[in-house]
Amino acid sequence: MHEQYGGVVPELASRAHMQHIVAVVDKALHDAKTDLKSINAIAFTKSPGLIGSLLVGSQFAKSLALSMDIPLISVHHMQAHVLANLIPSADPSKIPSFPFLCLTVSGGHTQIVQCASPLDMRVIGETIDDAAGEAFDKSAKLLGLPYPGGPLIDQYAKKGNASRFKFPEPQIPNLNFSFSGLKTAILYFLQENIKENASFIAENLPDICASIQQRIVSILLNKLKKASDQTGIKNICIAGGVAANSGLRNAFEETGKKNNWQTFIPKFEYCTDNAGMIAITGYYKYLAKNFESLDVSASARAEF
Ligand code: KG4
Ligand code: ZN
Repeated sequence: MHEQYGGVVPELASRAHMQHIVAVVDKALHDAKTDLKSINAIAFTKSPGLIGSLLVGSQFAKSLALSMDIPLISVHHMQAHVLANLIPSADPSKIPSFPFLCLTVSGGHTQIVQCASPLDMRVIGETIDDAAGEAFDKSAKLLGLPYPGGPLIDQYAKKGNASRFKFPEPQIPNLNFSFSGLKTAILYFLQENIKENASFIAENLPDICASIQQRIVSILLNKLKKASDQTGIKNICIAGGVAANSGLRNAFEETGKKNNWQTFIPKFEYCTDNAGMIAITGYYKYLAKNFESLDVSASARAEF
């Protein structure tokens, strides 16, 4: 629906939420082989995000909780990405113990989070401009690839030579990130090369994608290493849509081996936006009896 516009159109997104929410909840209950009567509480995403879509979800959750007289739990989207690492797995060694650090990389956020327990987390580094997912998507756009371009860069990069082109690494203090300079550097790089050869992109797409991906990954992992050195924490997770990137996953495992980290990555389907991560966060808030009253409202932006 959004691809033809080159990005998510908020109004279309909220209308689609309205149209589909009942059918989606029905299908989720059916697929989970359960029914509404067996549900103990309703968790919903309160923030951050597109306000129209958040309002549909929060109003629906409130109505459901009220009609069933069960607790209502609000969830912060970024906290949920982190806690996707705690979704039970057949192999318990795949679940991190506390404290751990999590690099959360999505379309809207890039954060390093220090977690002392499921509900006690602190952001110790974040992007000052674009998010890592945006860096992938904007680079893809410059290359003429459709939205969202992150997964396409990943695919082309697999066939490319990552050392062919060199893009700059920004010098940002502390544990913060910046990706806007990289986007500008890629723009100028492409303009100069296209001047010499009009089919530069078509002839070199895998190498360009591999080189861009390697730079984004090295920016992320250098800061993650710094965070581990500063905190002394060696249980390290990644989360968020960009954690689905194969270059990041491989380099993360390699960096982990070199530095004696215990590394954790959620299952592929729990990296990009999903309801499982909202449910696991709801579960921990349920245990802590961290409930909302019915006057709670969604918000587009919020700290956690
Ligand atoms: O967490 P997410 O699903 O949604 C947000 O909360 O933003 O992240 C979406 C972002 C998009 O920017 C998308 O391009 C990026 O994750 N992404 C990837 C890959 N899969 C998703 N980026 C690079 N490589 C991938 N394989
Ligand atoms: Zn997300």
